[in-house]
Amino acid sequence: MSGPLLLAVESSCDETGIALIEGGRRILANVVASQVALHAGTGGIVPEVAARAHLRWIVPVLDAAWADAGVSWNDVGAVAVTRGPGLAGSLLVGVSFAKTLAWAHDKPLVGVNHLEGHLYAAWLLDPGDAERDEPPFPLVALVVSGGHTFLVEMQDHLTYRLLGQTVDDAAGEAFDKVGRLLGLPYPGGPSIQRAAEGADRHDAIFPRAWLRDSYDFSFSGLKTAARRIVDQARADAGLPADGSQPLAAEVTAELAWGFQEAVVDVLATKTIRAAEACGARSIVLGGGVAANAALRARLAGEAEACGLPLIVPRPGLCTDNGAMIGAAGAWRFAAGDRAGLDLDARPSLPLAER
Ligand code: KG4
Ligand code: ZN
Repeated sequence: MSGPLLLAVESSCDETGIALIEGGRRILANVVASQVALHAGTGGIVPEVAARAHLRWIVPVLDAAWADAGVSWNDVGAVAVTRGPGLAGSLLVGVSFAKTLAWAHDKPLVGVNHLEGHLYAAWLLDPGDAERDEPPFPLVALVVSGGHTFLVEMQDHLTYRLLGQTVDDAAGEAFDKVGRLLGLPYPGGPSIQRAAEGADRHDAIFPRAWLRDSYDFSFSGLKTAARRIVDQARADAGLPADGSQPLAAEVTAELAWGFQEAVVDVLATKTIRAAEACGARSIVLGGGVAANAALRARLAGEAEACGLPLIVPRPGLCTDNGAMIGAAGAWRFAAGDRAGLDLDARPSLPLAER
């Protein structure tokens, strides 16, 4: 798609992101201010703290994006912003900021669904990347983030058929909770990956919830099992049950590996099965958990075995960022979407609603 330059704003959770994206694909700038360090102390996101940090960082992030892109307001065709789903206070900062920019510079405004953004990260090209074909339709996409886990079929741009979703917790939420159980630093996803990579033993068995032949997912039983397994490992090592003393590093590593393996097994198996059942011509992976090296490697191997291209954004484009909002926003803009200055934040916006 050739198309206008979009300035895109993302603030749905704990990353303040602003990007300048050309034609829905080419990244000119993509600046992300992460609040990970801010939330590490509490081991999770405190919504009010997150919203205040967005307020603190959104103008410096915009300044940095302009400096990286080397363009000006004259070049911008529209402003895109994440409208939901996400944390109400966090969303409100980005939506208010984007509305102000659009009004002050007389640019059209496009509201973007955050989950659609995660899907469209697969279309992005970094500044130095060679041109690359778009993911061919029909495709099957797996989105795995801190708040959502679902499989969709896309017959074409902006059209989704939901195949399955989590019936309880999101995959990222399970990573974060089990990371905490194991005493690993926040956020749990990258910490579990790192610990698992150091495992010498690969014997730990964690349960998989297959939910018969459906494309739905469930991770709450796995979380409960993880608690039981960690408690047992503490008892076996003669450690106090309250977690005040850490498990030996090699035990933590093996348990991290076993948990990760269980999540990856279910995600990869269902994705490949869905792709085959839908006659997909490609598979797309997105969302923060798609940054996971074990998931990427497993899906790459299985997709290759069935002759399907797998499109996975680099890890920095899997976790929250403005570029993906610019990509999805460009297709929405091309389809005629325009938001007014009454655009409101929608904390529980379903996929494909804007
Ligand atoms: O998409 P995202 O940045 O924010 C939401 O929209 O939720 O996803 C954040 C989630 C967190 O749960 C985090 O632990 C997980 O993505 N995550 C990972 C990895 N990197 C981030 N999970 C597993 N392995 C990783 N390498
Ligand atoms: Zn996200």
